[in-house]
Amino acid sequence: MRLLIDDANMNDIRRLYDLYPIDGVTTNPSILAKTGKQPYEVLKEIRAFIGKDADLHVQVTAKEAEGMAEDARAIIKELGEATFVKIPCIPEGFRAMKALRKEGIRITGTAIYTPMQAYLAARSGASYAAPYINRIDNMGYDGIRVAKEIQDIFEVNHYETGILAASFKNSQQVLELCKYGVAAATVAPAVIDGFVNNVAITAAVDAFVKDFEGLAGEGVTMKNCR
Ligand code: E4P
Repeated sequence: MRLLIDDANMNDIRRLYDLYPIDGVTTNPSILAKTGKQPYEVLKEIRAFIGKDADLHVQVTAKEAEGMAEDARAIIKELGEATFVKIPCIPEGFRAMKALRKEGIRITGTAIYTPMQAYLAARSGASYAAPYINRIDNMGYDGIRVAKEIQDIFEVNHYETGILAASFKNSQQVLELCKYGVAAATVAPAVIDGFVNNVAITAAVDAFVKDFEGLAGEGVTMKNCR
């Protein structure tokens, strides 16, 4: 399962890339709005940092197909061909996807709440389908179950589209889909921080260091103990 950062804050992106095996960055219009900066200023900074071939997902904001296609071409022109264009899985979105696939533009079907949206995204040529796990939970349904149903549909039909699971509230939700073999998860920095946020882990490591320093001396590590 590929792991992406669902945020546009450069401090968090740099910090998490430094620590973890991160495969890319996803944004949406709300995430860009939180930065308070011009959209392409932020996005170009992210692209420069992660590299021209890394996964970057950027969403169109037009609501009808022709406008979505124009947004998509502008995104690719500004941010490069490796960029995945996120298109909402609404009726006009599928019309845009069918046109854009012919131009070789890579598409992520987004705003997915139901398996049928994901099915249509796959048939319309999307590389990824992005179900919103936590938002589905908040509606009283089961986001993990929806994502698993989508994975089953893709597998049984031999579609090449992968799941880019999105909208997570906790690491348990990410783990459930990792176990199920989804292609990718995009996760907010606070939730990624929670992957290894456990006092038992910290206490275990601290105890190892304390025992070793008791033997070899304070501040001594394996590089300078003799
Ligand atoms: C990704 O495609 C979505 O835009 C994002 O994960 C939504 O996350 P949220 O429900 O935490 O806003």
